[in-house]
Amino acid sequence: MLGSSAVPIFNHAAQVHSPQLQGANFLNLLILDEDHAVREASREVAHSLGFSAHVAESAEQVQRMLDSHGIDAVLLDLHMSGGGNGLELLRAIKRHRPDTVVIVATGYGTVQSAVQAMKDGAYDFVAKPFSMEELRRLLVEVAAQLRVKTENRLRRETVKSRHGFANIVGHAPEMEKLYRIIAKAGQSTHPVLILGESGTGKEMVAKAIHSCGPLRNKPFIPVDCGSLVPTLIESELFGHVRGAFTGATNPKDGLLAIAEGGTVFLDEIGELPVDLQAKLLRAIQEKEIRPVGSVRQVPINVRILGATNRDLEQSVNEGTFRRDLYFRLNVLTLRIPPLRERRQDIPLLVAHILERIGRDAGVEKTISDEGLKALLSYDWPGNVRELENSLERACALSSASEIQLRDLPTHLSSAPASARERPSNGIVPIAELERRTIIDALAHVNGDKMMAARLLGIGKTTLYRKLKEYESQD
Ligand SMILES: Nc1ncnc2c1ncn2[C@@H]1O[C@H](COP(=O)(O)OP(=O)(O)O)[C@@H](O)[C@H]1O
Ligand SMILES: [Mg+2]
Repeated sequence: MLGSSAVPIFNHAAQVHSPQLQGANFLNLLILDEDHAVREASREVAHSLGFSAHVAESAEQVQRMLDSHGIDAVLLDLHMSGGGNGLELLRAIKRHRPDTVVIVATGYGTVQSAVQAMKDGAYDFVAKPFSMEELRRLLVEVAAQLRVKTENRLRRETVKSRHGFANIVGHAPEMEKLYRIIAKAGQSTHPVLILGESGTGKEMVAKAIHSCGPLRNKPFIPVDCGSLVPTLIESELFGHVRGAFTGATNPKDGLLAIAEGGTVFLDEIGELPVDLQAKLLRAIQEKEIRPVGSVRQVPINVRILGATNRDLEQSVNEGTFRRDLYFRLNVLTLRIPPLRERRQDIPLLVAHILERIGRDAGVEKTISDEGLKALLSYDWPGNVRELENSLERACALSSASEIQLRDLPTHLSSAPASARERPSNGIVPIAELERRTIIDALAHVNGDKMMAARLLGIGKTTLYRKLKEYESQD
């Protein structure tokens, strides 16, 4: 049961050795299909993702198992030859257990039944025959959805910290690996190079390294090498003596000296000018620095963490980054995966960010299923920062407690295809995008074809023709 398994879902330590990749552990999926082969194949896919998969052959069996097995999600074939009505069963499930996520499979059924099912609360539909890859993608999404529901519920039930590591949220296997490296890095005083696209949390990781080790009570000083002019960076890092340059009326200690015993985090280290790279290398190797305008060396005792979104190796080959400094920094390298490579963390991040926004605003903030679905299928070039910005913007736009799809930035709310429809090469046939858009639009306006056509910007006859085509394809 979802509600009773708070610890395994929340506790990062309990997840470290989990072999399940998609976080579907403890989720109960019920598969209803009359076809034995489909049932078993689906069960296998679900099982490989960590679901506890159960099967049923009839509507009555489903009804019975819903209660006795604490079912979280149902894969429901709408077509039932042996009597029983798939849509009615769907409605009954949603009526008695509204939190259950139902995916309907529409066989030789019609577009109409898919549209109707979406209106009746189905989370999504899949056209039969579906490939196991298609099912897998869909179930990954369902697991993520269920996790956010669980998160929301558990949030009310517990005050326990659910953060993996010093506020870093994420249970994707790459993140679990990252936590282990952070813990190790925290124990040493070697330089660490943190790599990752912009917005992936490089600064956060640097702070985590600093605060999980023996230096935790010493200063942590971030310096953005990308935003300061070169002369300023030099005096910031190394300090200067009085009269070192125009305006240097007072001597100033460098941050590398001020951080005494602590950590200096050099963000965007790839932007550091080459002459300063030499000076930094010397500081790391000799543990001393020479302030600008001074002839004396000052001893330092500081740990250097660097971060960049550049390919430093390429910079080395191009001659813009010193090879020797690169090797020095590269003793320990940490790579943070981009958000699109760990989509299963999106619900957790959303819950975490909404909790913060809600706390600041003094109201509880949630997101609709549809909204979350859009977040799950977007590519996030700006990573967690972009996710944060999108949610902040949505909350600013709407005072309602639940964020709707329309509150999200338009490039998100009009995201045409969900992740699962994207084949492994990432390319979705335009016809498929069109079909889905039309079905979604119809479901959205309760089947009103006039309205759907208007919203879609196509003529009513075109819409009719397309629907006819889909019917015959089905
Ligand atoms: N795994 C994560 N969990 C929670 N918040 C995150 C995570 N990664 C990034 N963030 C948030 O995203 C924003 C960008 O993170 P930051 O460390 O500045 O990224 P970077 O330095 O890589 O550009 C910050 O507000 C940070 O709190
Ligand atoms: Mg940064």
